[in-house]
Amino acid sequence: TMKSETDSEVIPNLIQFYSGNGNSFRDAVIKALKVLEGNYAIVAIKRGLNSIIGARKGSPLVAGIKGKEFFLASDVPAFLDHTKKVVFLNDREIVEINDSLEIFSIDSGRKISRQAQRVKWSVEEVKKGKFKHFMLKEIFEQPDAIEKAAMQPASLVKRVTKALSKADNIFFIGCGTSYHACLSAQYFFSEIAGVKARAVLASEFSSLVPFLSPKSVVVALSQSGETADLLEAVESARQKKAKIVSIVNVMGSSLTRLSDSVLMMNSGPEICVLSTKSYTAQLSIMLLLALSLSGRQAEAKPLLREAASRVKQAIKENVALARKLARKLSSSNSLFVIGRRNAFPSALEAALKIKEVSYIHAEGLPSAELKHGPIALIEKGVPVIAFVSPSAEKEVLNNAMEAKARGAFLIGVGSTPNRAFDRFFTVNDSSEAGAIVRLVPVQLLAYFLALEKGLDPDKPRNLAKSVTVK
Ligand code: M6R
Repeated sequence: TMKSETDSEVIPNLIQFYSGNGNSFRDAVIKALKVLEGNYAIVAIKRGLNSIIGARKGSPLVAGIKGKEFFLASDVPAFLDHTKKVVFLNDREIVEINDSLEIFSIDSGRKISRQAQRVKWSVEEVKKGKFKHFMLKEIFEQPDAIEKAAMQPASLVKRVTKALSKADNIFFIGCGTSYHACLSAQYFFSEIAGVKARAVLASEFSSLVPFLSPKSVVVALSQSGETADLLEAVESARQKKAKIVSIVNVMGSSLTRLSDSVLMMNSGPEICVLSTKSYTAQLSIMLLLALSLSGRQAEAKPLLREAASRVKQAIKENVALARKLARKLSSSNSLFVIGRRNAFPSALEAALKIKEVSYIHAEGLPSAELKHGPIALIEKGVPVIAFVSPSAEKEVLNNAMEAKARGAFLIGVGSTPNRAFDRFFTVNDSSEAGAIVRLVPVQLLAYFLALEKGLDPDKPRNLAKSVTVK
């Protein structure tokens, strides 16, 4: 008999149903899990019994070990304070913990032996330190994240570059911010390497799956490595025998286990729900691959080192203006972000940052599209943020001026301040790594907008760090 409307209540009822008749607690859990449909990560206990059983399918579950103490969580940072020794579970496995930890297959019931691993993340990385929020801390960690992302094993980069150069088609897939990184990468590949690749939202990938073959390469980008829409797309690409290259931050995550090659982002744990440093790391790795594809791999490290120092400078020089501007914009209902060519994905990402954390409606657009409709929404005082990137400065300026003529409050982001703007964030985005640098002021603006509105930037409403549902 169900006592509530909670769907997971079915699980303890099922376990109860299979208990007795000589079944051990583990037998009962396994029997219940065998008839469940859909994804889950669960932990089950039975009154009077000194054991805990965890199980996963499609949703993350990791175990931590510290001597005779054990931890179960959906993500390593939850117990990093206690231990760095972890055991990653695969789908359709259970872990039984009493005096020791044992893993069993749900399907065969057989015991599985698995070595524990040591995660490289440090305890300090999961603490706020001198920062009030993880979001600000992670924005400030970006110069470091770029340098660490650049540290890819040369042999791995060589192998991935070879696979990409031989591919008959290349797709970049991701969701949310990771998708925006895919879009930027599409520009890197065509502009730097002269290679055609297509960025696709993982949730919309199914219509392209028929075009995959063993000669295709699918590059999957994900901070968590647990995003359900992405995992589903990767599974379908694997069925077509396409090569899977993943760019991922969380070691041992589901995506790493579905991939032929894994480039780790090395960003350290990203705790804030909003992606900031992981986006920057994704862009850095994709730029590195584009350079490697064009035979310029030796230039990658110096270029990324320079980008790291430009990001540092962009933080220092824009933090005060971002704080001040947030005060002015916090009462806005809606704002627009425009950019052209490789600054178009930056506009999408900037708008996503603002809307996620401040709940202000924000729309990112290719600047030329303003006149094809959205300009109808511009009236006196509507904020328009324009990325005036070097490769499209004149065009973006023209589009921004069209908005200004309708009363827009213009905010520019770029390397050359222009009097047309009411406010201007100066960033040095003049190199091929410009996409990595230019987002910084808007990340800061988004953070301060949340503070102005009395919101918690680390935990925006309705959002989860890993989106494990479809
Ligand atoms: O872990 P993933 O990179 O796969 O996550 C994808 C999106 O859910 C994620 O980027 C989301 O859009 C963030 N909230 C963005 O800040």
